[in-house]
Amino acid sequence: MMTNKAIILQTGGGYDKVTLGTRDAAPPKVGEISVRLHANSLNYHDFAVVSGMWGPTEPRIPMADGAGVVTAIGEGVTEFSLGDHVVSTFFPTWLAGEPLVEGFATTPGDGVDGYAREAVTASVNAFTHAPKGWGHVESSTLTTAGLTAWRALMSDGALKPGDTVLVQGTGGVSIFALQFAKMAGATVIATSSSDEKLEKIKLLGADYLINYKKIANWGELAREMTGGRGVDHVVEVGGPATINQSMLAARVGGHISVIGILTGIGGEISIVTALIKQLRLQGLIVGNRTQQQEMVRAINASKMRPVIDKVFPLERIVDAFRYQETNKHFGKICLEM
Ligand SMILES: NC(=O)c1ccc[n+]([C@@H]2O[C@H](COP(=O)([O-])OP(=O)(O)OC[C@H]3O[C@@H](n4cnc5c(N)ncnc54)[C@H](OP(=O)(O)O)[C@@H]3O)[C@@H](O)[C@H]2O)c1
Repeated sequence: MMTNKAIILQTGGGYDKVTLGTRDAAPPKVGEISVRLHANSLNYHDFAVVSGMWGPTEPRIPMADGAGVVTAIGEGVTEFSLGDHVVSTFFPTWLAGEPLVEGFATTPGDGVDGYAREAVTASVNAFTHAPKGWGHVESSTLTTAGLTAWRALMSDGALKPGDTVLVQGTGGVSIFALQFAKMAGATVIATSSSDEKLEKIKLLGADYLINYKKIANWGELAREMTGGRGVDHVVEVGGPATINQSMLAARVGGHISVIGILTGIGGEISIVTALIKQLRLQGLIVGNRTQQQEMVRAINASKMRPVIDKVFPLERIVDAFRYQETNKHFGKICLEM
């Protein structure tokens, strides 16, 4: 039997609890597929698990995002064929419709084993097809960051051509949000702490740029950039330090996707602004499998490619997370095996 490498995070997590072991994949049963994994991408959530901030209560294979090739098919599986390129789903039990899942009990790399490993056998619902022509590293960026941005703007935001979208910073979710917004004919206002990164995001199609370190009242400036109307959608990844500026930036009746906690998990929010502007503040966690399939279909109809900052070998997972912590990245950090 082949021996497949796996990263095993010991109970409690922390960089000193990351070990390299082996984990083979069982033959697929009814409704299952086996996948030879080739890549993962890093997210803040995976960092929280691996660094020990939200460490596991038992040994766990980390990483929610995995991409690879189907190597065996169980009875009753018609959706996939041998050799298909696939990408993992964040909520393998939430297939469609209204949110069903609270928390991360079914999320790979958190409540159940994830994909920092070479081989896995899982339910077909744990994967969808990957975009045509994308490499595995590219596809691995979609599970968390890609789908969160897609759901915020397309599934829940019902974005229309001509809408204005505000994206914050140049991390994984925000760059995907910019790309989907441009794909759909929207105008994009992008913020960053770095003028150099703003130049890069301009090349991806951002229409207006704001350095949020230099301009503290950037919400008001963003509203002015829309001729005073305000932005239709805010992809809110900052948290307590940004949400009040996001509300200033939004138009009356605007949609704010409450996604990120980059500056903390709680804080003061101007209730009166939310009320007077009749804003729709919507918390969300990633998305369902059907939304992922819709996202992949849209990508297949476009020329879009994800922005990859840096790729580390699987064994250097801790170095990859240390690099993520520096915030030097522009786009996604990935692992390859
Ligand atoms: N709810 C969900 O389903 C979901 C899914 C994915 C991620 N998230 C959350 O969304 C957040 C972003 O995730 P990510 O994976 O995109 O992270 P990431 O790739 O690590 O992005 C980090 C970037 O965010 C920007 N940033 C940091 N502080 C900021 C601030 N005060 N204002 C504006 N931008 C700021 C920085 O960009 P610059 O260097 O350009 O300033 C930084 O490089 C995290 O809190 C994560 O937990 C939530």
